Amino acid sequence: MLILAFESSCDETACAVVKDGTQVLSNAIYSQIQTHQKTQGVVPEVAAREHVAKLQPVFESALAEAGVSMEEIDAIACSTYPGLVNCILTSNTMASCLALIYNKPLIPVNHKMGHVLSCRLDADFDFEFPVVCLSVSGGHNELYLLHSFDNIELLGQSLDDAAGEAYDKVAKMLGLKYPGGPEISRIAESGAPYKYKLPNPLAKQAFNFSFSGLKTNVKYLIEKLRSQDGLSLEELTPDLAASFQQTINYNLSSKLVNAAKEFSATQVHLVGGVSANNDLRAQITSQLPANMSFKHPKKLSYCTDNAAMIAAAAYFVCKSDYIQAGKAVTPGNSSLIELVPKVCN
Ligand code: KG4
Ligand code: ZN
Repeated sequence: MLILAFESSCDETACAVVKDGTQVLSNAIYSQIQTHQKTQGVVPEVAAREHVAKLQPVFESALAEAGVSMEEIDAIACSTYPGLVNCILTSNTMASCLALIYNKPLIPVNHKMGHVLSCRLDADFDFEFPVVCLSVSGGHNELYLLHSFDNIELLGQSLDDAAGEAYDKVAKMLGLKYPGGPEISRIAESGAPYKYKLPNPLAKQAFNFSFSGLKTNVKYLIEKLRSQDGLSLEELTPDLAASFQQTINYNLSSKLVNAAKEFSATQVHLVGGVSANNDLRAQITSQLPANMSFKHPKKLSYCTDNAAMIAAAAYFVCKSDYIQAGKAVTPGNSSLIELVPKVCN
């Protein structure tokens, strides 16, 4: 089954063609990072206008790279929720028009479920359930227990900011470029990870997360180091970046590993933009029992927002009897079928 998928929920304009939910034939991505570096973050109106300009060329290059025509496509998928509404609407309009013109089924996909399925892209392994999956990106931060592909339980989530948002904001405080995650990770290599003690948020609340307090702690620490200790931003940045990275990654990895142990997971997955972080991967590996295997998306471009993961999730929606039976979505049930395009509600 060939699925053409679109993704434009934040600052990546993306279109992909994926075979059987796993084999990536093309994964075209136009990143708006350079635009948003000027404002150190995404301005929704600016992002939406850039999606409008780039959707057509990105769509054309996805088809060309895959070497397929629209006639050969079996279904069209589009990420519909969550995300920036005016950004989502751009690719939703494009996908709806294509579905109408070429008479193809249109599959709305929950963006978060795309991330959860991203480890399947070009994978040389099968999912072995139960899987415990930590999804960490700029906009969302959740811990899931996958009993099967269509039975996915939400164990916990961030009560405020996502981990990627904390990386981005701390980077901004340190005068680093957007997006902050890769910058912090690069500078942390020359810093001392245990130099500054920062709080381990919600350590006692098993599977929920909270990072806004940690951000505030970093802010006050920077102020203190500059005013009381007379350090310049350049002087304090490597140790502070390393200490922040080690603290937030310890928080994320220990909650993931605790969940894996509690639910006797066979596999442990790490997905989303922050899953590109090498220190986080290393912290998980070092804490994980030997009988559990650790997986993350095969390529960096499958960690951050992309359309191939939307196709991966859409594949199971196509296969599921939910679509055929027209079953209603159960509110609060976080499954692959949680796909109501809430922007249209
Ligand atoms: O999944 P994603 O592309 O977008 C959302 O759905 O939000 O994630 C983007 C986030 C940004 O906050 C970025 O700083 C973070 O992922 N990120 C990283 C790294 N690479 C990207 N965070 C830490 N370390 C990295 N190497
Ligand atoms: Zn995302």
